[in-house]
Amino acid sequence: YQIKFPENEPVKGYMPGSPERAALKAELDRQLANPVEVPLIIGGKEIRTANKGKIICPHDHQKILGEYYIAGEKELLMAIEAAEAAKKEWENMPWEHRATIFLKAADLLTGKYRANLAASCMLGQSKNPFQAEIDIICELADFLRFNPYYVQEIYKQQPNNTDGVWNRVEYRPLDGFVAAITPFNFTSIGGNLPTAPAMVGNTVLWKPSSTAVLSNYYFMQILIEAGLPAGVINFVPCKGSDFGKVVVSHPQMAGFHFTGSTGVFNGIWKQVGENISKYVSYPRLVGETGGKDFIFAHESADIEALTCAIVLGAFEYQGQKCSAASRAYIPESLWGKLKGRLTEEISKIKMGDVRDFTNLMNAVIDQKSFNNIKSYLDYARQSADAEIIIGGKCDDSVGYFVEPTVILAKKPTFKTMVEEIFGPVMTIYVYPDDQLDETLKLCDTATVYGLTGAVFAQDRAAIIKIAKALDHAAGNFYINDKPTGAVVGQQPFGGSRASGTNDKAGSAVNLNRWISQRAIKETL
Ligand code: NAD
Ligand code: ALA
Repeated sequence: YQIKFPENEPVKGYMPGSPERAALKAELDRQLANPVEVPLIIGGKEIRTANKGKIICPHDHQKILGEYYIAGEKELLMAIEAAEAAKKEWENMPWEHRATIFLKAADLLTGKYRANLAASCMLGQSKNPFQAEIDIICELADFLRFNPYYVQEIYKQQPNNTDGVWNRVEYRPLDGFVAAITPFNFTSIGGNLPTAPAMVGNTVLWKPSSTAVLSNYYFMQILIEAGLPAGVINFVPCKGSDFGKVVVSHPQMAGFHFTGSTGVFNGIWKQVGENISKYVSYPRLVGETGGKDFIFAHESADIEALTCAIVLGAFEYQGQKCSAASRAYIPESLWGKLKGRLTEEISKIKMGDVRDFTNLMNAVIDQKSFNNIKSYLDYARQSADAEIIIGGKCDDSVGYFVEPTVILAKKPTFKTMVEEIFGPVMTIYVYPDDQLDETLKLCDTATVYGLTGAVFAQDRAAIIKIAKALDHAAGNFYINDKPTGAVVGQQPFGGSRASGTNDKAGSAVNLNRWISQRAIKETL
């Protein structure tokens, strides 16, 4: 049994007249007409509680897509028991059999359930077909196919023997369960966080985001259809505080796999610290967190490439990618022309309902996010240190819509230049061409983050200089390309500094975090 280096799932275009477009349109209508009920899944059983939440359509917030049940302390304890009960059998299953389940899930989601999953992600998380396709279909399938490959490569590594001594390493799962808490914005990450630890024999509690429950539940059903045994992954939508209280402080929690904001991860880390003497094993903490991702242009940059990177990097998926460009440093000599090109291109962006496939942008995720973005725009509007030069309007009367917005900051440390907003807002600082070194220093130190960043230059010496000056400012660094759209197996993804523990999702580094090695020396 040998898994070859996988190929990335090809991205479908949903072009007019194509069968996939017809299937997706029909599925969108079907899901809109048929609200669903999402139970908890604990030990393979569907559980319903007295506590429910609504699943809404962000682009049309009066439209209810369904309801989901919310786990309380009792159900979370049940889920821990179920994970513990399933562990021995799952861990003793040959790894190839575990791999087969995840590989089958990848085939199901790219095959018969493609339209079903894409539609749920479009409606529930407000993505256009392309954004849904690269997330819940291609990237998620890639995680499911690349993780078994990387595990195979890890398991092959064995130490040297000497005369009369047989040395070996056993690759065991962690001694306890793994907790996974996932964000709303990437369903691929939502699916990877519980399945990566499970691939190497761990059992998991998965708390999905309340604003991504629909697509996450459909994926959970695919895992079950692919043969995932009961109790291996327990699907428990719940309040973060309950998860923290019951799960994160549980003595058997041996690993914690998180993606979301820096503040929440910091809170969990603190909680783990406070409970440290209670755990059976030191919990492995893996977190990919917030960002304030930059585009740094040199005077030799190509204006067209830069325009394209700012428009797509900042506004695709309404700027709600952890990798989205949200601050740019532009030399004075390029600014006049760039401003014109940005105004032109941004004016062409269409925004609205996900069923109109010509919309590049849709709604932001919920009222809380809408209010947060609006408060930043109000702040910029009232400040003498900045000017909104493009967009800036917000309208939540039907859906949570925020126009693609460009702010010109007069000071490089202006609030919207340094804080994560997580919306379609790009702040630009124009620097004197002869202050490259000072501006690089600013870019490097202005924020606590280090997730993604891009340099635009045609001068090779400038590229090398800028890449060196910003070497820890981004865990994913792009040269003459937008800082979004990392592909599994091509650009392992994960940040530095306060953007994460840098345990690159979809790589051997990440999978190793869920493995506990036992080194054995046998004297023959
Ligand atoms: P969030 O931090 O608000 O929520 C993430 C998850 O944590 C959700 O499931 C949420 O319910 C849960 N949560 C919230 N408070 C909690 C608490 N007190 N205890 C336990 N769980 C709690 O993030 P979000 O809005 O879902 O996603 C956006 C954030 O995620 C941004 O900061 C973005 O940069 C980051 N993100 C990072 C990456 C990355 O790879 N670095 C990828 C995607 C998103
Ligand atoms: N793959 C996603 C991106 O890079 C996280 O935007």
